[in-house]
Amino acid sequence: MKPTLQLFLIACLLFSISSCKEKEDEYAEKSENEEQGMTQEALVQRGEYLVNIIGCDHCHTPKKFTENGPIPDMDRRLMGFPSTDSIAEINKDVLAQGKWMMFNNELTAFVGPWGVSFGANLTSDDTGIGTWTFEQFEKAMREGKYKGMDNSRPIMPPMPWESFRMLEENDLKSIYEFLKTTKPIENVVPAYIPPPAM
Ligand code: HEC
Repeated sequence: MKPTLQLFLIACLLFSISSCKEKEDEYAEKSENEEQGMTQEALVQRGEYLVNIIGCDHCHTPKKFTENGPIPDMDRRLMGFPSTDSIAEINKDVLAQGKWMMFNNELTAFVGPWGVSFGANLTSDDTGIGTWTFEQFEKAMREGKYKGMDNSRPIMPPMPWESFRMLEENDLKSIYEFLKTTKPIENVVPAYIPPPAM
């Protein structure tokens, strides 16, 4: 074989090895990305979708009253029970076992055998979940721990955390990431009132 032809063949071989290696790197990168999950933007988008379809607004967003009835007031989205509002007098006669539970007409305050609970502030403000870590959020959503703290009280009805505990990790992460992007609204929701104090 002529030395020039030999050199040419070696060059071809080296080129095909290096392009194989490039393809391998490309595949490795791709599967690593897939393993790590979605981009931040995709997480936030999915989180917004989940919050919309699960209906967190039902209990965490005050309502405005339209001709078609109450709808979530998106200017006050997810701020929880407004601290400037008060609750009407509670008729305890209708509350006994086997009788009724009560909601205020904005669906942000709830009265039942557990006492009185108020839809929490889920906005990105410090009075909402602005300072929360994902671990805290997970503890609240999966273990029903108020503020996501180990030693805190249980989260009261009608917060359906027993259902939310089944959310897949990625979905929970998405909801958390979306909530962190919400408009911050300063609102210290009133403290839960246990039955004897009601
Ligand atoms: C049926 C009503 C209802 C729905 C729907 C609901 N929540 Fe709640 N949630 C509540 C109430 C009431 C509380 C406050 C309970 C308490 O103070 O013990 C609460 C509390 C929480 C808390 C704990 C807040 C804190 O300060 O500890 C988080 C987090 C939370 N909700 C997230 C969500 C998310 C996210 C969704 C939607 C995926 C959602 N909730 C849907 C009623 C609801």
